[in-house]
Amino acid sequence: MTLLSLENLSKSYGALKVTDDISLRVAQGEIVGILGPNGAGKTTLFNLIAGTVQPNAGRVVFEGQDVTGLDASARCRMGISRSFQIPHPFAGMTVFENILVGATFGRPKATAPHARAAEVLRLTGLARRANDRAGSLTLLERKRLEMARALATDPALLLLDEIAGGLTDRECQALLDAVRAVHATGVTIVWIEHVVHALLSVAQRLVVVDFGVKIADGLPAEVLTSKDVQSVYMGAEEHV
Ligand SMILES: Nc1ncnc2c1ncn2[C@@H]1O[C@H](COP(=O)(O)OP(=O)(O)OP(=O)(O)O)[C@@H](O)[C@H]1O
Ligand SMILES: [Mg+2]
Repeated sequence: MTLLSLENLSKSYGALKVTDDISLRVAQGEIVGILGPNGAGKTTLFNLIAGTVQPNAGRVVFEGQDVTGLDASARCRMGISRSFQIPHPFAGMTVFENILVGATFGRPKATAPHARAAEVLRLTGLARRANDRAGSLTLLERKRLEMARALATDPALLLLDEIAGGLTDRECQALLDAVRAVHATGVTIVWIEHVVHALLSVAQRLVVVDFGVKIADGLPAEVLTSKDVQSVYMGAEEHV
């Protein structure tokens, strides 16, 4: 079943076309990886899906409903949640309190906010740090918290924007375990990531964006060996 469908989405800032006629389907239960050079328009795509940015053309359809005209808070209550490339946790609040904020304002659920926050602490591996201030966390824990804050709203669709950068291999494996644990609860994930090996170990499908255009979409092995993608990443030249 299709959970999210982007239909011919375009977004420009002045003369700069940042999203160029992108169509994309995400099935329920998938983990889709999004790759692309800096400035390719990846975060903008998340802004369009989450509702913080409105497209100039095209539609965003979630669970069969056109949500293009809805703002970010309405989409969050429907089950779309995202992490931020530059996290801004409430540094003076505890880890638990940070997560509780999301659990209080997200998708209406049967679970009480405190119970949801406790569940998310466990899923993201932060239980030991529950009562510590967010400002005291290590880099890996900050990444966990960024995912936890988004997850607290109980999304059906979780958008992760570059959460693996700067981690050691071991830390990255620990983060991947948390992503797998979240996915195992039934959450569909779209993950923008420059750390390709991290993405490859969980993504069932890869999408590549370059200059706002979707240039590849398919099985990871096929996408990475495609001519278009290789020319973006390795500057491959055409020989005639
Ligand atoms: N609000 C805005 N106003 C003007 N230009 C913008 C705005 N937001 C993004 N852009 C421009 O759109 C382009 C795409 O930005 P975006 O942040 O989506 O790229 P990205 O693929 O996420 O890049 P990165 O890998 O560096 O995070 C960039 O050239 C950026 O400067
Ligand atoms: Mg970005």
